[in-house]
Amino acid sequence: SKTNHYDFFITETKVTRLCREKSVLAVNGQFPGPTIQERRGDVVVVNVHNQGHKNITLHWHGVDQPRNPWFDGPEYITQCPIAPGANFTYTVLLSHEEGTLWWHAHSDFDRATVHGAFVVRPRLGSSDYPYPKPHGEIPLILGEWWNADVEKLLEETKRTGSDFNVSDANTINGQPGDMFPCSVDGTFRAVVERGKTYLLRVINAGLTNDMFFAVAGHRLTVVGTDGRYLKPFSVDHIMIASGQTMDVLLHANNNNTNGGRYYMAARTFQTNLQLAVNNSTATAVLEYAGAAQSPPELPALPAVGDLAAATAYTARLRSLATAAHPADVPARVDERMVVTVSVNVLPCGGGGGPNSNETCEGPINGTRFAASLNNVSFVAPAGVDVLDAYYSSVGGGGVYEPDFPDRPPVAFNFTEAEPATELWFTRRGTRVKVLDYGAEVEVVFQGTSILGAEPHPMHLHGYAFYVVGRGFGNFDETRDPATYNLVDPPYQNTVSVPSGGWAAIRFRATNPGVWFMHCHFDRHMVWGMDTVFIVKNGKTPETQMMPRPSSMPKC
Ligand code: C2O
Ligand code: CU
Repeated sequence: SKTNHYDFFITETKVTRLCREKSVLAVNGQFPGPTIQERRGDVVVVNVHNQGHKNITLHWHGVDQPRNPWFDGPEYITQCPIAPGANFTYTVLLSHEEGTLWWHAHSDFDRATVHGAFVVRPRLGSSDYPYPKPHGEIPLILGEWWNADVEKLLEETKRTGSDFNVSDANTINGQPGDMFPCSVDGTFRAVVERGKTYLLRVINAGLTNDMFFAVAGHRLTVVGTDGRYLKPFSVDHIMIASGQTMDVLLHANNNNTNGGRYYMAARTFQTNLQLAVNNSTATAVLEYAGAAQSPPELPALPAVGDLAAATAYTARLRSLATAAHPADVPARVDERMVVTVSVNVLPCGGGGGPNSNETCEGPINGTRFAASLNNVSFVAPAGVDVLDAYYSSVGGGGVYEPDFPDRPPVAFNFTEAEPATELWFTRRGTRVKVLDYGAEVEVVFQGTSILGAEPHPMHLHGYAFYVVGRGFGNFDETRDPATYNLVDPPYQNTVSVPSGGWAAIRFRATNPGVWFMHCHFDRHMVWGMDTVFIVKNGKTPETQMMPRPSSMPKC
């Protein structure tokens, strides 16, 4: 393995979108940021120089960071943030990841513009991809653009908790595309040669949106997700939840000779249409070399609320499960947790959280919006991070409580249309789940319809997990485990919990450390749809966390 160094300068950078100039945080002046390109097993050293005006941290989304939580990134979970003017060097350890991942800021809403692709190729001299080598690669980072300042958006989200301000455009590689005003020049364009195959590395960096994506005139062959290989399957469109990646082959074989230009397009997927939804379609152009400059065709995309299309797509994901890329699904379950995933309300003001001077704009007088897992609305500590508290004092010294519930504290019909108002309320807490090294863990995420059912992209740091089951309605512990796929379930780091349903994941707790788990919609994340797994050290040195680096930032 090799060690490669990068310097990331966080700067305020002026960009123009939708006819307005705006200053955003960016890395090395680029939005989206630079691509990290490595090989399996490499070590990546990234020196982050914070030349912006606010605290920031970076996270390497989908990299397990074995025994190395110190450099994982979520603020106040594994580190104190990097202050303006300071720098911090992350060591990113690649182990078994292979495919497309990404990196992004993990502080406030900074990832809106601070993100980029993290490409992990097979080891040099290895048998290479388990599919025919593509002629070229096309990175496609889906995202969202706000005309408003995202710091203001965060403030409002925290203060009133009622700001459903939606993004002003979806984007592909930072651009809304030429169907938006003032957007023709920047529209992303990929030129391809007829007859050749290309690897599309699709990343959903969106802050609040899952997305459908398609290319006019072309079928897509999906070969990987979240940095792992899949059994190839062919589709007209994909659904990619916020935080996920999809590796997709496109064969440039459309023989329509008077055309030659096709839109690649992304549109929001959201089932809760009571929420204001960004209804726009972002476009980029796929152009055959030498094509006439005719207007491109648009692909057919499912409607924004098309749950059936999203479900049918997601059901097709299966691990490659070959000798070279085996699936190794935990068979015994030492810990089964059932975790409700809800949007809630909290009493306004003096709620014990850091935002107690909030105004009250929740759905009931005197409340604000919040969110929870097992009805715990997570509050990150202030002035210290969970990892440091765990490492330096027995039991965390009061920074957190090790009592995150294994079951929903109140059983009710989680997916009924209108849950009773008293079920809307949650409680704040910094409650974490402690796991023994090597435990085989099953987590069933149970969606609820409190304040409206919607899909939630749940993401776990430090691990990938097998998605062994999904279903609609309430999870039935006596019946549903019999339907699990324990042979070739997809291996992911982010799972879309179906709107009005549940998803079951399994992982083996062999990465000691402190690992954040949260909804990848940033609004839900800051409302408390989070918890932390603390995985204890094993008995031998190679099953234990690395010692604390002396360079960790101070709060
Ligand atoms: Cu992609 Cu905790 O994040
Ligand atoms: Cu969510």
